[in-house]
Amino acid sequence: MFTSDTSRALLSAQGLRKTYGSTDALDGADFALMAGEVVAVMGPSGSGKSTLLHCLAGIVPPDAGTVLYQGKEMSSLSDADRSALRRADFGFVFQFGQLVPELTCLENAALPLRLAGAQRKEAEAAARNRLQQLEVDDIRHHRPGQVSGGQGQRVAVARALAGDPRVVFADEPTGALDSVNGDRVMQLLTDAARQTGAAVVLVTHEARVAAFADREIVVRDGKVRDMAGAA
Ligand SMILES: Nc1ncnc2c1ncn2[C@@H]1O[C@H](COP(=O)(O)OP(=O)(O)O)[C@@H](O)[C@H]1O
Ligand SMILES: [Mg+2]
Repeated sequence: MFTSDTSRALLSAQGLRKTYGSTDALDGADFALMAGEVVAVMGPSGSGKSTLLHCLAGIVPPDAGTVLYQGKEMSSLSDADRSALRRADFGFVFQFGQLVPELTCLENAALPLRLAGAQRKEAEAAARNRLQQLEVDDIRHHRPGQVSGGQGQRVAVARALAGDPRVVFADEPTGALDSVNGDRVMQLLTDAARQTGAAVVLVTHEARVAAFADREIVVRDGKVRDMAGAA
């Protein structure tokens, strides 16, 4: 069934379907991500990009089709094992950062490690390394409400990378930023990912954001097609 490329993939999906009411959010979507690769998932609003990301990350179960991570079928894992896998191997960045307003930027960046059981000291040391890499270490004691949108997204990226994930899932990570701040976040995100060897699934509808990726795919009507050869 699988091409040789798919069998070498870190993360792959075959024939994903997901229906909400009468909407086919995914209608037979295939996908493959190699280790360390940055892939932009493009397509118009409502085409199924976020649903694809959620299925790949094991957040949403597909109605049909398979997701393989490191050769293992995601649906064969228990909920607890899937959650543990997400905490250990995946990092997430969303459009609006979703930082916890009561915590400082440092505490936010360290939070996934703390939730995974790390001691405060080691979690915050790892988080500070990432805040430095994302050039927001100076605001580490601020709360999210006291920093700019661009700074907040850089903290969100630091949080996603703090646990040395194998895959970062980023859904419109610059969608709420102007182009200057958006480009800076993308540069820092992709530099940091490439430096650590993390692969990135980057959902965006903006070509200038997708330009930071190694490869682009397009989702249209719940199906995936490669950019190669497309207009
Ligand atoms: N939880 C949900 N409940 C109902 N409909 C949904 C849900 N999630 C997505 N959809 C629908 O599925 C389609 C694809 O959505 P989505 O994956 O969010 O697209 P995109 O991220 O490309 O904008 C849209 O028509 C959307 O309204
Ligand atoms: Mg979306």
